Amino acid sequence: MSDIITMVTAGINYGIDLAADIAELKRERNAVILAHNYQVREIQEVADFVGDSLGLSYQAAKTDAEVILFCGVHFMAETAKIINPTKCVVLPDLDAGCSLSESCPPPALAAFLKKNAHKNYYVIAYINCSAGVKALSDVICTSGNAETIVKAAPADRNILFVPDQNLGAWVMERTRRKMDLWQGTCYVHVEFTARSIRKIREQHPAAPLVAHPECTAAVRMLADEVCSTEKMVTYCKESSAKDIIIVTEAGMLHRLRREIPSKNFIPGPTEHCACAECRFMKMNTLEKAFNALRDLKPEITLPEPLRVRAELPIRRMLELSR
Ligand code: 13P
Ligand code: SF4
Repeated sequence: MSDIITMVTAGINYGIDLAADIAELKRERNAVILAHNYQVREIQEVADFVGDSLGLSYQAAKTDAEVILFCGVHFMAETAKIINPTKCVVLPDLDAGCSLSESCPPPALAAFLKKNAHKNYYVIAYINCSAGVKALSDVICTSGNAETIVKAAPADRNILFVPDQNLGAWVMERTRRKMDLWQGTCYVHVEFTARSIRKIREQHPAAPLVAHPECTAAVRMLADEVCSTEKMVTYCKESSAKDIIIVTEAGMLHRLRREIPSKNFIPGPTEHCACAECRFMKMNTLEKAFNALRDLKPEITLPEPLRVRAELPIRRMLELSR
């Protein structure tokens, strides 16, 4: 279903079927539209592929389109550019950042590594970080492959995991591998509390609860399953339950409702809201996506030496989690 919006230009009102126009522009530009599971419904509906960070990275790595319209946040589009230096990668809103990425500025990580040079850290960076941090890392991981990546780390090295302390703590529990954790958090997922989650469980006692590993340990302990957004789709498809509580960003429910219409998805609440939304993910709109495809901007660009250095740990990840 495409949305009809009314645009006002030079005082004249006229209707534009944005979704149809995006589809036409996409053909003209030889473009592919990649969208994260947290994007608004209208964007998910025009995308060629909707998925988690890992799935999107693989799609970006294999596309032969000339233009990638990346509907997600900056680090995701930047990752697509790092592995596609000759392609034009555009993001609907250049200000669509990420609190995790912001929590680990490259100069702070470089200073930390220098100060702790004696530890000879093997640096594992969650993909939610800037190109500068990727360039300082040995390997990248996503929530979908973190366990595999940590298990593959050299046994004789100290590991520094950046920037998400919650995902890091969860992987430590799963792999029993000790790691030093950068103290970053996702401002959205830490809004879920044990109290808010207990309350929703009491209201739906038969419903299994699935949570993202960026949630705190107190919330993860109350979950039946902890996994990446893509694995949530698989879990929900395979579960025999009719009602399922989803503890992550609210955009996820569009994907689930579209793919599994027979089930009832209940958003996990925070202390103050019935669901949690990422303000960065929500900066992208269908209109901005159309403009980005039409104008081929805002475009992601990177200094080549930085891109080359940041590509190494991403390629290592893609090889390891294949
Ligand atoms: P996924 O890779 O699980 O989709 O997570 C990305 C993200 O930003 C979660 O906040
Ligand atoms: Fe970053 Fe959190 Fe938004 Fe994901 S939900 S993009 S981790 S701020």
